[in-house]
Amino acid sequence: MRTLLLFLSRQKQLRKWMETSAWARRLSGRFVAGDTLPEALSTCQRINAEGIAVTLDHLGENVASPAEAARSRDAYLQALTEIVKLGIDGNVSLKLTQFGMDLSLADCRSNVEQLVRQAAQLGNFVRVDMESSAYTDRTLDLVTDLHARYAAVGTVIQSYLYRSRKDVEMLCDRGIRVRLCKGAYLEPPSAAFQRKADVDRNYIELMNLLLEKGVYPAIATHDESIIAETERFVVSRRIPRDAFEFQMLYGIRRDIQRRLAAEGYRLRLYVPYGEAWYPYFMRRLAERPANVVFLARNLVRR
Ligand code: FDA
Repeated sequence: MRTLLLFLSRQKQLRKWMETSAWARRLSGRFVAGDTLPEALSTCQRINAEGIAVTLDHLGENVASPAEAARSRDAYLQALTEIVKLGIDGNVSLKLTQFGMDLSLADCRSNVEQLVRQAAQLGNFVRVDMESSAYTDRTLDLVTDLHARYAAVGTVIQSYLYRSRKDVEMLCDRGIRVRLCKGAYLEPPSAAFQRKADVDRNYIELMNLLLEKGVYPAIATHDESIIAETERFVVSRRIPRDAFEFQMLYGIRRDIQRRLAAEGYRLRLYVPYGEAWYPYFMRRLAERPANVVFLARNLVRR
């Protein structure tokens, strides 16, 4: 089921049909904060009121023209300006294929650089999400390069990739902030662990490494046993609670979100918005195929 959903997530025709369908948009509302920036910003303010920070994601990936990439950049510049203007406790997360990486590396870099420069001027931060392993090298090169000049940028490491330990060590050495996640794409056995137990074991090893050697790492997971392991590790090493943060996705495991915030842990929610929601939505279904049954039941009830 996971493989099928991830395969469907890359189907362009299905994407076009779903993103223009009113009922499909209603379904995606569980994971997506709205179509527009004002809707997303008011969701962010509501989340901030619960003592939880945000990172705003203007949905979109694998854009097909330089004009589309430039529109994505402008949407992010505006989002960052509004975050600061409204005093929202938040930053932004982006995908390089949304900034034109498939079209021209130089143009993509220039688009991202404009945003990172603005973030540095505003005292804010840009997180570059990690996409499939076809992009890992280019993503790390671009982030390390921009970090050397602006510092206001970090990236993401996926524990399902065999290469990740080496990448974490490199990012720690350079003082670059890392968000650690398990990984959401379909990867071959030549690149990634296929068994959940191996992905989880690697996650815990990388989490320990980041908490000891990294700069303000983000532990991004909804996995209760890994969250418990993180809590145990920071207590045993006397790592202060303001030296790291947990991160979770908007709309997933509200129970754990509330508990972590109530216990005084730093928590940031990843808040996606925009009309290009289909690939993001399908990856969320693939992570927990029971979501398909849940959504189908809601649809029948309507
Ligand atoms: P796991 O999948 O093992 O799930 C543990 C438990 O969490 C499940 O049993 C269930 O209770 C709950 N859960 C998880 N996913 C759910 C869902 N979709 N619906 C309902 N319940 C769910 N990936 C990537 O490749 N690149 C990236 O840049 C990012 N960025 C990112 C940011 C943030 C803040 C988060 C939290 C995650 C990402 N991810 C990501 C996604 C990540 O790689 C991974 O696919 C998901 O977080 C699911 O993995 P878990 O760690 O939650 O564990």
